Amino acid sequence: MIPQVFDAAKQVDQAFLIILGISVGILVLVTVLLAVFVVRYHHTRHPEPVEIPGNVWLELAWTIIPAILVMGMFWFGWDSYKAMRAAPENSLIIGVEGRMWSWSFLYPDGKRSSQLVAPVDTPIKLSMTSVDVIHSFYVPAMRIKMDTVPGMTTYVWFKSDSVGDFDILCAEYCGLKHANMIARLSVVSQDDYKAWLAGEASEGAAKGVALLEDYGCTACHSLDGTDGVGPSFKGISGRRFVAELPDGSETQMIADAKYLKRAILKPDAEYVKGYSPAMPAYEGAIPDDDLEAMVNFMLSGDATPKPAGREMAEEEGCLSCHSTDGSVIAGPSFKGVAGTMRQVVADGAVRSIKADREYLRESIVSPENKLTEGFDPMMPAYDYLDPAQVEALIDYIESLGQGS
Ligand code: CUA
Repeated sequence: MIPQVFDAAKQVDQAFLIILGISVGILVLVTVLLAVFVVRYHHTRHPEPVEIPGNVWLELAWTIIPAILVMGMFWFGWDSYKAMRAAPENSLIIGVEGRMWSWSFLYPDGKRSSQLVAPVDTPIKLSMTSVDVIHSFYVPAMRIKMDTVPGMTTYVWFKSDSVGDFDILCAEYCGLKHANMIARLSVVSQDDYKAWLAGEASEGAAKGVALLEDYGCTACHSLDGTDGVGPSFKGISGRRFVAELPDGSETQMIADAKYLKRAILKPDAEYVKGYSPAMPAYEGAIPDDDLEAMVNFMLSGDATPKPAGREMAEEEGCLSCHSTDGSVIAGPSFKGVAGTMRQVVADGAVRSIKADREYLRESIVSPENKLTEGFDPMMPAYDYLDPAQVEALIDYIESLGQGS
């Protein structure tokens, strides 16, 4: 059984066990009676049904006994419900913010954290809301579960009598990464809690990373280049990308400080192409210093940038047909292709041509002109890329090795 560290949780377990016990008892009773009646009153033994006009005592029994059982179940349920709802006056109040797909906890002194840290033997009242859709804050160890609803404040309370780490989950399906909406409740000693609360705010890059975690950004945006629900922060500084505007049009953009701030505060203003518009707006939710620290971190390049061309190759889908390790997928590998002599089919005839920048450029913009022999003409023309993008892609291909 999961630990019982909260008194009201013990009452919840008690109510649950009583209801379970009564239900099992009734199930057994009904099943046994059913079997007995099937055998005893089988038509071979009992050919003539008996007419029973009524039986006062039986009728009283099957009315009064279930009524007592139901009232009893209600009483235990009500008692534990009251205990769960009655947060003591002297509770420590901690704010909870649910969002797709992370939790933020706000402490009385303004500290914010992505994990819930609480002192032992202290009643904690969680004052909860959501910034986007309905989530459900669930801590199995405390037997507490409550929806967090946008535009509304809900609460739960608990008091742990022992220190330890407990799981926090989201119990309301809220989209793609609902299952990742996990956090930790750490119940610590009073002294540890004070020390944690007073723990000095980190500086510089460490502060930026801490804030990105505390505001839940890293639930969707990785720091290591892994693609997530949103683009990775790694190498985001100065990244070129195609943005989709609310009116459906597209435009070329560069991730600079101004753009990054807008993308945090008003993500709906423009979306990076290829990502779904799932991000909540942080306007009014982030103090200016925090915003500044996060954007500075993103621009600092602490996360090492990928070459722009590599970025392009990923974004434009080149790598699904062209490997970078020499293996052949649907088209020739990018590895070592630059500078090699190619046998190409041009105007129905096979010719030999050097894969210099000129040729690579043509192969990207108008691939069907000079197709490498032996490959199917299936590549779309990337004639919508701007010349700088094409050059960046060629730089990247050249960086993968030059043939002779
Ligand atoms: Cu939040 Cu499920």
